[in-house]
Amino acid sequence: MNTTLVLNPKGGSGKTTVTTSLASYFAARAVPVTVMDYDPQGSSLNWLRLRDSSRNRIYAANAAPQRGNRLRGIEMHVPADTRQLIIDAPAGTSGLLLQEMLARADCIVVPVAPSAMDIHATANFIRDLLVGGRIRMRNIRLGVVANKVRNSMPTYEPLERFLKSLNMPLLSRLRDSDVYLKAVESGVGLFEMDEAISAAEREQFLPISQWVENPQSQLIAADRKIVQLPTRLRLLAGVASN
Ligand SMILES: Nc1ncnc2c1ncn2[C@@H]1O[C@H](COP(=O)(O)OP(=O)(O)O)[C@@H](O)[C@H]1O
Ligand SMILES: [Mg+2]
Repeated sequence: MNTTLVLNPKGGSGKTTVTTSLASYFAARAVPVTVMDYDPQGSSLNWLRLRDSSRNRIYAANAAPQRGNRLRGIEMHVPADTRQLIIDAPAGTSGLLLQEMLARADCIVVPVAPSAMDIHATANFIRDLLVGGRIRMRNIRLGVVANKVRNSMPTYEPLERFLKSLNMPLLSRLRDSDVYLKAVESGVGLFEMDEAISAAEREQFLPISQWVENPQSQLIAADRKIVQLPTRLRLLAGVASN
């Protein structure tokens, strides 16, 4: 099973949008896929509830902290045949819950919205993840997605400079588009929508899907140049044992 954590401390950056789009990519290819929602708002699970039962199944796992005496352990069960597990993180995660999500992850996708404040907060967050201290070492790939890109501001120079300094890939630029809103409202994913209205968005999303499903593959970057994937990042995760 390959586990992808969709993570950003800021709300509204596109975590749920990336989660549901990625899930629809695998579902459309009949790959057994589970979405695990850590967010108490449950947006991914709501989307799954809206989903037409005639479509390929996407399993749901609820990992949000529970109120009262509901048992989290049972609700967060992941079916054994799952090949792709996608974790939708809540905003502002830290502490034990963040450690728990990181401990599950093989790769992390970080969507970033275009405001200077979002870019700054995300850069700090990624830096903290990378220099997290005397902790258990794991190799987790980390890739960033520029989300809600406007035609008037096609590049994110401060973000791209930051990523370059860490040799970290910008997986894609997803433009600001109503197609994502339509998908969420109707309970279908990007890769299950009418191709005529979603072709441009699919094309932009594809490098993310391919990066997730094929750890060794070369990446076609958003600027269309072939870039070599960096050697696996040594992401520091877990809790210090001493
Ligand atoms: N590329 C995009 N174009 C247009 N709207 C988007 C895009 N990405 C996300 N949105 C919208 O922005 C809002 C926040 O996105 P969401 O994925 O829920 O963020 P998060 O899960 O990080 O809080 C939602 O209404 C979503 O439909
Ligand atoms: Mg969300």
